[in-house]
Amino acid sequence: MKKLFVKTYGCQMNAYDSAKMADLLAPLGYATTDVPEGADMVILNTCHIREKAAEKVYSELGRLKALKADKAKSGGRMLLAVAGCVAQAEGAEIVARQPAVDLVVGPQSYHRLPEMIARTARQAGQRIETDFPALEKFDSLTPPSSSSVSAFLTVQEGCDKFCTFCVVPYTRGSEHSRTPEAILREARQLADKGAREIVLLGQNVNAYESDGWSLAKLCAGLAEIEGIVRIRYTTSHPRDMGDDLIAAHGGNAKLMPYLHLPVQSGSDTVLEAMNRQHTADDYRRLIARIRNQRPDIALTSDFIVGFPGESDADFEATLQLVRDIGYATAFSFKYSKRPGTPASTMRKQIAEDVKAGRLDVLQKLLLKQQYAFDDSQIGKRLPVLFEKIAREPGQIMGRSPFLQPVHVQADASLIGQVAEVRIEKRTANSLHGALLQDQSA
Ligand code: 5AD
Ligand code: SF4
Repeated sequence: MKKLFVKTYGCQMNAYDSAKMADLLAPLGYATTDVPEGADMVILNTCHIREKAAEKVYSELGRLKALKADKAKSGGRMLLAVAGCVAQAEGAEIVARQPAVDLVVGPQSYHRLPEMIARTARQAGQRIETDFPALEKFDSLTPPSSSSVSAFLTVQEGCDKFCTFCVVPYTRGSEHSRTPEAILREARQLADKGAREIVLLGQNVNAYESDGWSLAKLCAGLAEIEGIVRIRYTTSHPRDMGDDLIAAHGGNAKLMPYLHLPVQSGSDTVLEAMNRQHTADDYRRLIARIRNQRPDIALTSDFIVGFPGESDADFEATLQLVRDIGYATAFSFKYSKRPGTPASTMRKQIAEDVKAGRLDVLQKLLLKQQYAFDDSQIGKRLPVLFEKIAREPGQIMGRSPFLQPVHVQADASLIGQVAEVRIEKRTANSLHGALLQDQSA
């Protein structure tokens, strides 16, 4: 057996792709390992969304170069591959900056990895593959070899929104949806391998559209699969929140009461400059409609502070929106200039210290809301889907309907099942509770 080490950066779609690459290389004799030392092949599945994420790749490649040299000294060969969005965006630049790299493969081309590896074995030189055949890769993927209790399933890729700060429309291309048949087939395969929850993934997942199927219809189809007890989806754009999807939050019992709906900013001026195509009040009204269907829904978002031109008043409008909505949790970032995007050349870029100050204020408010939301569960009974053994002896870990991690003293045989838990306390990032004795009530 040859050893394969895959390191994943960035979003859940990369995590899904990494698993697929491992499945794809298994027939070539590669088995995954947890450490890069001594590996026969290392894949960095990279993220280009912010500068920091992209730079990490080059420092990691520096370290791997040394491991590759060690392997060569002992007579072996370590193939070094860069996959994902940095590969797509920077292609040939990568091998110029780090000649130890053997393969560069974009997110739409990784189904060609076996062929690229074979060619590298036959002749020296580096291979770069960053073509964009729309979704062709999914047709050549092998069925999942295993599944976790909660499984990712990519249903849509790319984005046509062109927010002015974002590289995704360039690295992942325009929107493409997989067919409902292919998705339902994969979901059934995952269920057979033990998946109880399916998390539908897409850069702009609620824009899903194929053969007249919307995301709401897809969720309805998934709900009919035996074994699948929970459905989630991420990430969505406010503009694509269709009436049927909003209604599904009230009507589809397997669709969990959780929605990641990034708003980025609460200022109409900034939203306009970001090309988000909606106002802060549009978003408030949308949330009200969703809460009308599902009053207890947990809402989360992404925020960017320090977008070019953002004034103190604009930032205050973001804080006000956060106070108005009340989030269960959220991600927030300092604006990061991305090459080729319109915002990177806008005037009135914001100073680093101003960005850092605003981020700090926003994150404190969001954390306060997160604790308030988590605390509101104490004393309640929640159905928890158990996923794995926890670090503490005798404990297992699962998720509440609101995606909160829940730790419980219970037998590992409950993994893969939903059981009722009385929530007793909260620690920094998770809830703790006790299994209810009478599971029939
Ligand atoms: N700078 C900072 N944050 C960004 N995001 C996307 N592009 C940038 C950027 N240039 C954030 C957005 C998006 C999340 C995935 O990453 O908030 O929703
Ligand atoms: Fe990027 Fe999301 Fe905007 Fe698309 S909708 S451009 S993925 S931030």
